[in-house]
Amino acid sequence: MTAQPPLRVVQWTTGNVARATVQAILRRTDLELVGCYAWSPDKVGQDVATLCRLPETCGVTATDDVDALLALRPDCVVYTPLRFDVPTVERILRSGANVVTTAEFLTGHSIAGAREALAAAAEAGGASLFGSGMNPGYAQLLAAVATGICSEVRHVRSVESVDVSSFAGDSNMDGLGWGRPLDDAGHADDIRAAVAVFEDGVHVLADCLGVDLDRVDCRVDVSAAVRDLDLVGRPIAAGTVAGMDVRFLGVAGGREVIELHQRWVMSGELDPPMPAEHGYKIEIDGSPQVSLTLGLLPDQPLETLTVEDMHGIGMTITGMPVVHAIPHVVAARPGLVSYADIPTPAARM
Ligand SMILES: NC(=O)c1ccc[n+]([C@@H]2O[C@H](COP(=O)([O-])OP(=O)(O)OC[C@H]3O[C@@H](n4cnc5c(N)ncnc54)[C@H](OP(=O)(O)O)[C@@H]3O)[C@@H](O)[C@H]2O)c1
Repeated sequence: MTAQPPLRVVQWTTGNVARATVQAILRRTDLELVGCYAWSPDKVGQDVATLCRLPETCGVTATDDVDALLALRPDCVVYTPLRFDVPTVERILRSGANVVTTAEFLTGHSIAGAREALAAAAEAGGASLFGSGMNPGYAQLLAAVATGICSEVRHVRSVESVDVSSFAGDSNMDGLGWGRPLDDAGHADDIRAAVAVFEDGVHVLADCLGVDLDRVDCRVDVSAAVRDLDLVGRPIAAGTVAGMDVRFLGVAGGREVIELHQRWVMSGELDPPMPAEHGYKIEIDGSPQVSLTLGLLPDQPLETLTVEDMHGIGMTITGMPVVHAIPHVVAARPGLVSYADIPTPAARM
C-alpha cells in the first residue's frame, strides 16, 4: 500500500463543537490541521489548540484572513460556526475546498435559495458540501442502517429525548423561546424556524430510503415549569415554557412516513408531564418491527464527571460524524452530498 499524504484541513471557528473536532483532527494521522478561521477578533493570532482548551499547543494560529486560509489549498474545511453563512460557504467551495459542517445545513432544504447557490459553487470548485452532527445528522444514518434488515418499511421514527437544562445558557438555545407564556401566538412557528435544519434531516433519511417527499410538516407541543427554574444563563418562571416536543414529519403519497421527534426539557417536573429518556431511539414500523436504543455513557468514573464533561460528550457525538466523514467527502462527487451519497463513516482505531 502506498502511504497517502494527510488531508489538509482548516477549522472554521473554535467554539464548543470545534473543541471536539480539533482534538480529533490533531489525533488522526490521515488529517493535518493547516489553518483556522476566527470570527471573534480577540482570537486572531492565538494557537488553535489553546483556543479549544486542549492541553498542548499545536503550532497553528487562528486568523480572520479568509483569502490566506483558502490560499493554503485545504482539502477540507470543518465549518462549525454558530450560524451557517451561505455566501461564506459558497466562497470556500468555489476555491475548491470541500466542506463538512455541523452548522444548520444537511441538505439545504431549510434555507431558502441555498441549495441552488451552494450546488453551483460546489460544481464550479469541483468540491463537495456535507452536513451532519448527531441530530440532525448521524441519528438519521442510524435509522437508515436499521432499516437494512427489513423486507418492508412503512414508517421510520427517530427520537431524541434529553434534559437540556445544563445547556440552558447556550447560544444554540436562543431561538427556542424558553420561558415564553403557554399558548403564545407564533411560538410554534418561531421554534420551527429556530431548528429548521431538522427539515434537512428528514430529507437525508428520505434520500437514504429512496422516498420522494411531498412536504415536511412540523408539530410543536409545549409544557410548563411547575416552579421557578434557576438555570445558569436562562432562568425560567413557573407556568412558562420549559419543555417541548418538536416533531418534523415527512409526508409521501399523502401519508406520514418519517418522524424526527425531539423532546427537550429544562426540568423533570413539567405540566403536562414530559419525561426525558436521556438518549436516542429509532423505531421502524416494518417487517420486522425494529427498535434501536442508543445508550451513551461517559468514558470515565461517574463520580468524577463534571457538567463540562457531560457537554463534552454532546460535542463529541456532534463533531465526530463530520470529522470521520472527511475522507469520504473529499473523495465524493462535486456538489451537495449526504449520507445517501457517501460510504458509512467510521472512527479510526
Ligand atoms: N446537528 C447536531 O447534532 C448539532 C449539535 C450541536 C450543535 N450543532 C450546531 O453546530 C454549530 C456549532 O455549535 P457550537 O455549540 O460549537 O457553537 P458556538 O460554540 O456557540 O459557536 C461557534 C463559533 O461561532 C462563532 N460565532 C459566534 N456567534 C456568531 C455569529 N453570530 N455568527 C457567526 N459566527 C458566530 C464563534 O467563533 P469564534 O470561535 O471565532 O469565537 C463561536 O466560537 C451550530 O450551528 C450548532 O447549531 C449541531
